[in-house]
Amino acid sequence: MVEALREELADLTASVRAFLEWHAMTGADGMPGHPAALHEALGAASSDGATPAPRRPERGFSGQDAPSPPVARGGSGAAFSPPPPRGAAASASLPHPEQRGGAPQPEQRGGFESQGAWSPTQAQRGPEPPPRPAVSAAPAPRADTAARASATLPDTKEERAARLSLIAEEVRTCQKCPLHEGRTHTVFSRGDPSSAVVFVGEGPGAEEDQQGQPFVGAAGQLLDKMIAAMGYHRDEVYICNIVKCRPPKNRKPEPAEMAACSPYLTAQLALIKPKVIVALGATAVQGLIGTSEGITKLRGTWKLYKGSIPIMPTFHPAYLLRQPSAKREVWSDLKEVMRHLGKSAPDRG
Ligand code: URA
Repeated sequence: MVEALREELADLTASVRAFLEWHAMTGADGMPGHPAALHEALGAASSDGATPAPRRPERGFSGQDAPSPPVARGGSGAAFSPPPPRGAAASASLPHPEQRGGAPQPEQRGGFESQGAWSPTQAQRGPEPPPRPAVSAAPAPRADTAARASATLPDTKEERAARLSLIAEEVRTCQKCPLHEGRTHTVFSRGDPSSAVVFVGEGPGAEEDQQGQPFVGAAGQLLDKMIAAMGYHRDEVYICNIVKCRPPKNRKPEPAEMAACSPYLTAQLALIKPKVIVALGATAVQGLIGTSEGITKLRGTWKLYKGSIPIMPTFHPAYLLRQPSAKREVWSDLKEVMRHLGKSAPDRG
């Protein structure tokens, strides 16, 4: 009993600490905090602990898909609004702006301060229209991998984990595209396959390739802070990528490479059946739904994966390492995800 309470207290402390670190970075008004606080917070995210920005381009910041720096805006974007009650969030279905007559793009809305226009209250207005077909122009998953993974067997946690291991095993020997030639390790996933939320990145970078784990470099450490600020431990969510092998020099994966790898992601998501997918960066959104629209336009606007799973596109953490002022927008997107999940952030006290 005492042990359980102690563990709960430790979890709570970790969450609050992570939130405070995140808050130090985003600042009370949602903009980057005091340089010292920012440095301290980012220091942990830096691979050498000395400089916030990585020396080589981080995976997910390949230049081609780098958004133009967001316009700095005032307001209180970092303030918490209490999440809706669980029931309300559950019945909220998807606050999908496009299904609702088209919410304006962030730029048109004049900033995310006016995000309330499509907040969860909107989701409570009435029954959802039937889900639209997926926007996806992404290649169809290879039938065998995806179908085998989601075949009608008992869907227990153990069964799901076992099937995911089978897919990971298949990935380990995959030679479907030239990326296999340069890899040290394939990078399948980390985290909890029963999680309600899945984070999807672009593809492994150098450190991920070395360790065989997604998001373990500088961008990954920042992602861990984002996840902790949402009130989760990094192991409580599921994290994976569009491609499972590192593209050379951290370049963006080619469409053919993404197509070759897509059955694996399809199978992963079919097994996990998350309530929400957070797409980190333009490549992740492209790999999931096939759009080639820029992330600055896409972020903060709900999309649908295969007609059923809500996707929240947001900036890639590697971009945030170079453009810390964009953390404000990311935090706004993550709060939207939390609202959808009926989850509250740790209290600032
Ligand atoms: N960036 C990604 O998109 N994925 C990783 O695994 C690491 C960095």
